[in-house]
Amino acid sequence: MSRERYAGVMSGTSLDGVDAVVADFAAGPGRVCETLGAAHVPFPRELRATLAELQSSGPDELVRAADASIALADLYAEAILAACANAAVDAATLAAAGVHGQTVRHRPDLGWTIQLNDAARVAERAGVTVVADFRRRDVAAGGQGAPLVPAFHAALFGGAEAHRVVVNIGGIANLTDLPPAGDVRGFDTGPGNVLSDLWHAEHRGGAFDEHGAWAATGRPIASLLAAMLADPYFAMPPPKSTGRDRFHSAWLDEHLARTAPDAAPPDVQATLVALTARTIADAIRRVATDAREVLVCGGGAHNATLMGALARELAPRVVVPTSDRGVAVEHVEALAFAWLAREALAGRPANLPAVTGAAGPRVLGAIYPR
Ligand SMILES: Nc1ncnc2c1ncn2[C@@H]1O[C@H](COP(=O)(O)OP(=O)(O)O)[C@@H](O)[C@H]1O
Ligand SMILES: [Mg+2]
Repeated sequence: MSRERYAGVMSGTSLDGVDAVVADFAAGPGRVCETLGAAHVPFPRELRATLAELQSSGPDELVRAADASIALADLYAEAILAACANAAVDAATLAAAGVHGQTVRHRPDLGWTIQLNDAARVAERAGVTVVADFRRRDVAAGGQGAPLVPAFHAALFGGAEAHRVVVNIGGIANLTDLPPAGDVRGFDTGPGNVLSDLWHAEHRGGAFDEHGAWAATGRPIASLLAAMLADPYFAMPPPKSTGRDRFHSAWLDEHLARTAPDAAPPDVQATLVALTARTIADAIRRVATDAREVLVCGGGAHNATLMGALARELAPRVVVPTSDRGVAVEHVEALAFAWLAREALAGRPANLPAVTGAAGPRVLGAIYPR
């Protein structure tokens, strides 16, 4: 048993699949952790469709959710074992695996958030202690239960001389503000890739617009962009978090019908990329005025059109992927859940009440011993 080796498993709102890492948190002075291995397990098409359906009400939801939970648990276990194989680490030697689960509804305003998972089954299948259900304690304490990654972003990228911001662009985008002195702040800025993925799937097939190449052939539609930017979410002060509950295809369709019913599909795609870039940039201009360096992680960092739009919006600030600062863009969030598992086992609170709005610091997660 290595006290400092943890797995982290994330499957986010993009519904693309599971990212897993194995990390060593005794990496040596000046380093929070070292990634020993990683794996990505894509969701089978049917599971992806089921998870998308479970984002809204429908018949027999309990049974469908239970079936999806065990299918997810099997993929989480597979991803842990694949990351272990990649790292040449025996899963039995891990201290624990932090497993986020799959968010299908997120309504902290109603007092709940739902991450599908079967943590007991993951422990059984992978033979590791599992820490799961990280968000609900924060929600129970009156918080948003999200974002939970800012404390880890601070551990990983904080303390630099330059004022940094970390932006994770998954299905939803969230930012962490890391001023050299002062409090860490963070919140969800709004849609990351979720809307452009939906639009791409509808018009081109395929889960996403590779490198943003299709978006690059279109031009943003000013009236559509303005109408979408008027959604009250963007002007709300933090703490705030969001998901597919709010930013979904009906949201996009309504805006299109009202402002640009005859728009050419590539122009809509370009507008959705502009929406993501603008809302992230506005958030940074509002809360992190002095930021000099913007580090981008999540799959959105692979979208060159989006990265270019962000760089233009935020110039003269430096906009670079986290890989330029030593951590692969697809590992950051999974590493965060490895770190959160470690905090849970140590009994340390890991939420930042200033970020989530919770009544106070709380130990996050439930432990399922192996
Ligand atoms: N090569 C790429 N080109 C363009 N976009 C990409 C690429 N790779 C990943 N993405 C985008 O990133 C998303 C997945 O990002 P991820 O960080 O896993 O988000 P989540 O945590 O929500 O699952 C995809 O749905 C896609 O929009
Ligand atoms: Mg993902």
